[in-house]
Amino acid sequence: MRPVTAALLTSLLFATAAFAADPTQPEAIERAKLMKEIGLTSKILGEMASGKAPYEAAAAEAAKTVLIAAAGQIDTVFATAGADDPVSEALPAIWTSWEDFTTKSAGFGQAAAALDTSSAETIKAGMGTIGASCKACHSVYRE
Ligand code: HEC
Repeated sequence: MRPVTAALLTSLLFATAAFAADPTQPEAIERAKLMKEIGLTSKILGEMASGKAPYEAAAAEAAKTVLIAAAGQIDTVFATAGADDPVSEALPAIWTSWEDFTTKSAGFGQAAAALDTSSAETIKAGMGTIGASCKACHSVYRE
């Protein structure tokens, strides 16, 4: 297993907590809502993977389903930049490199779909790939 997984997910989640304010532009609000859902759902899986929460097959499978659905919504929710929002961390490169952005959202969808929820160990393995797919997008398209 990759020990980097928990640290990576923790850093992604702490990034959320660092926000003092919420976005005010409608497009930015929708983006934050979707990403927060993805963050919280990843946290459920991450805690099962690390043993911080007990492994529960049904909850793991439900979380996987939420991640797949959320991944499928990224392109729709991010399609329009909307007006500048001081809180939004979305970089303009999203809309100038749209095809690459959608490749990255698809990569996340594939990683989520490939997640094997049959044990805490398999979740841990899958979360490595999923965490890498979050990072692949954030490192280019998020402030
Ligand atoms: C295809 C690109 C992409 C993928 C994949 C992606 N994200 Fe994001 N994420 C973004 C962008 C862009 C933002 C900034 C949006 C904004 O502020 O308008 C963001 C913001 C966030 C936020 C902050 C939400 C808030 O409170 O405003 C969290 C948390 C987050 N992502 C978690 C994740 C996690 C966890 C994963 C993987 C399981 C993931 N993201 C996958 C692009 C992506």
